[in-house]
Amino acid sequence: MFIQTIVVLSCALVGLVSPVVADTWGPAYSLGPTTGAVIGTTTTFIPGNPPANAETGLFLWIGISNATSGLIQSGVDQLADNSYCGATANQWCLSASYFGVGGQKDGPYIAVNGNTEIGIAYSLSGNTWTQKVTVAGKVVSTLQSQDGPLLHGGWGTGTECQQNCRGTTSVQQYLNSVIQLSEPDMNFPNTLGKGPGVVATPMETSDGGKTWTIASITLPVYTAPPGNGN
Ligand SMILES: *[C@@H]1O[C@H](CO)[C@@H](O)[C@H](O)[C@H]1NC(C)=O
Repeated sequence: MFIQTIVVLSCALVGLVSPVVADTWGPAYSLGPTTGAVIGTTTTFIPGNPPANAETGLFLWIGISNATSGLIQSGVDQLADNSYCGATANQWCLSASYFGVGGQKDGPYIAVNGNTEIGIAYSLSGNTWTQKVTVAGKVVSTLQSQDGPLLHGGWGTGTECQQNCRGTTSVQQYLNSVIQLSEPDMNFPNTLGKGPGVVATPMETSDGGKTWTIASITLPVYTAPPGNGN
């Protein structure tokens, strides 16, 4: 995850055209901006099997940010050499992660298989965000950052393909996603952007638009266009 991440996600979240960058992006599911603030989220992420021929690099994450904040982005990574997290060639490296002032920061890494159900929770206390990544109920990575309530913020998936990345070879799933807002926003579903091939259940709220749930989001296999160093 490099410097372009925050620029592109922020632009995607506010519905602007992405700037021209060296990396490419798979189809995304993205929401925002909301009228109040994004103040929390939980989801279960199943990344699918990583590409058999690892290249540097592929980054799959669930992100929250606003146009001026850092980007909270727990997820899985695959580089040409995944030994930095102890992964074999057919595993991912999983961690909490944040990109903001001071660059990229990562929580502890662990290796996971593609069919792992990864719990991801971002919670806010005062101005401090805590990322908590769990596998089978056990906390495997955490990270804190200081952006406060993400006013006019958004929520979105990232399929980020850098340098020699050729894309993904499996679908990705996000199950039982919950997004907490600081104030009701019944217009939030109208901010939804869905890339080609993205399939999702309808957004639902049972408290008048403050808490939104999405039972299932499936992102398609993404093939990077040629010319991306691949
Ligand atoms: C993003 O959220 C922070 C923290 O609440 C706030 O200070 C900032 O103004 C927000 N940015 C935008 C563009 O709304």
